Amino acid sequence: MKNDFLLFHKPFISEDEVNEIVDTVRSGWISMGPKTIRFENNFSEYIGVSKSVAVSSWTAAGHLTLEAFGIKPEDEVIVPTMTFPATAEIVCYFGAKPVIVDVDEDTLNISLEAVEKAITPKTKVIIPVHYAGQPCDLDEIHDISRKHGIKVLEDAAHALPADYKGKRIGTISDVTCFSFYATKTLSTGEGGMICTNDEEIAERCKIMRLHGINRDAWKRYTESGSWYYEVVAPGYKYNFTDLQASLGLPQLKKVDTMWDSRKKIAARYTQALKDLDSIQLHTIKPDRDSSWHLFPIRLHLDRLTKNRAQLINELREKNVGVGVHFMPVHQHLYYSETFNISDDDYPVASAVFPRLMSLPIYPGMTDENVDRVIDVIIDTLNKFKK
Ligand SMILES: Cc1ncc(COP(=O)(O)O)c(C=O)c1O
Repeated sequence: MKNDFLLFHKPFISEDEVNEIVDTVRSGWISMGPKTIRFENNFSEYIGVSKSVAVSSWTAAGHLTLEAFGIKPEDEVIVPTMTFPATAEIVCYFGAKPVIVDVDEDTLNISLEAVEKAITPKTKVIIPVHYAGQPCDLDEIHDISRKHGIKVLEDAAHALPADYKGKRIGTISDVTCFSFYATKTLSTGEGGMICTNDEEIAERCKIMRLHGINRDAWKRYTESGSWYYEVVAPGYKYNFTDLQASLGLPQLKKVDTMWDSRKKIAARYTQALKDLDSIQLHTIKPDRDSSWHLFPIRLHLDRLTKNRAQLINELREKNVGVGVHFMPVHQHLYYSETFNISDDDYPVASAVFPRLMSLPIYPGMTDENVDRVIDVIIDTLNKFKK
C-alpha cells in the first residue's frame, strides 16, 4: 500500500486506550471482569437505558436477544435486505425464517409498506437496521409492532450515537444491539452490546452469553460458597473481555467528540458535493440525528462512462479508499437459493446497489484528508462524465 493512501477507515486509538490495556494486562484479569462491568454501567448511563450486556459481537448480541425472545423454528422475523448478512443469519440459527424485505428509496432503511405486507401470524420480531447511522421510522414501526404483538430488535450496529425525535437510539425498542467491530464508531476490535429496559431479557442474555451458567445460584445454598454455579440451559461462549473493555472505556469517553468530528466531515462533503450532477447524496430526515457512521453516495451511472468497480479502482489509484455498503442480503447465494428470492422482489435495493459507494468518514481524518477526498471525487467524476 502506498504511504499516502487514505484508508477507508481507521479506529481512533490514543494513548488512553494503550494505558488502559497495559493496566489490564498488568492486573492479571484479562477476560470478563471488573472493567467489563464498568463498561456496561458507563454504557447504560451514556445511552440512558437500564441494562447493558456486553458480548463478543453484534452477531452474538442479536442471537442472544432472539433466544431471550423465545424464537422457535416455525417463527418468522422481518429484516431489510440492505444490511450485513449477520442481521438475517441470526434468525437462521433457530431454523426460523428471515423474511427479507425491500428498503425505502430515500433512506435505504426498512420499507414500512414492505413490513406491513410481510406480516403473517408467524411474525415474531422486526429488526430495523439504522442504515449508515440514520434512525429508521421507529414510531411507525412501533405502531405496526403494537398492532400485531411483534417485538422490535433494533440493529444499531451503525447508530452509536444517534437520536430519533430527541430520543437516543438504545432507549426506544424492546432491545437495541450495537457493534464494536473494528470499523464501527466505537471499536473494541470485536464486540457488541445488548441494551434493554427489560430486566428479564437482560438476565437471560447474561446467563446465555456464558454457557448458560447462573452464578447467583450459590445464594440459594447457604452451605455452598461462591464457587457454586448451575448450568440452567446450554448457553454460548459469547462473553466480552476486560481487554476489550480497556479499549471501550476510553472510547466511550470521547464518543461525542468523535461524533462531532464525523458531523463536520459530513457537512463538508455535503457542501462540496451537493451540486455535482453525477452523484446523489443520501437523504437525511429532519427529525433525526445520524451517527454518520457512513457517508454513502449514489452514482448516476447513466451520466458516467465507467461503472462503480472501475470508479473505485480509479479512486484507489489516486490513493483514496472507499467502501460499498451493502451487497443486499437477497443477492447472496444462500439467501436467494434457500428462500427463492431475486432482484425482482427487491426493486429498490436492486436498483440502488450498483450505484452505492461510501466515502471515508472517521475522526482521525485531517482537514487535508477531507479536502483530498473531495478533490479526487470531483476530478474523477468529471473525468468520466458523459
Ligand atoms: C448493519 C450491521 N449489522 C450487524 C453487523 C454485525 O456486527 P458484528 O461484526 O459485530 O457481529 C454489522 C457489521 O458489519 C452491520 O453492519
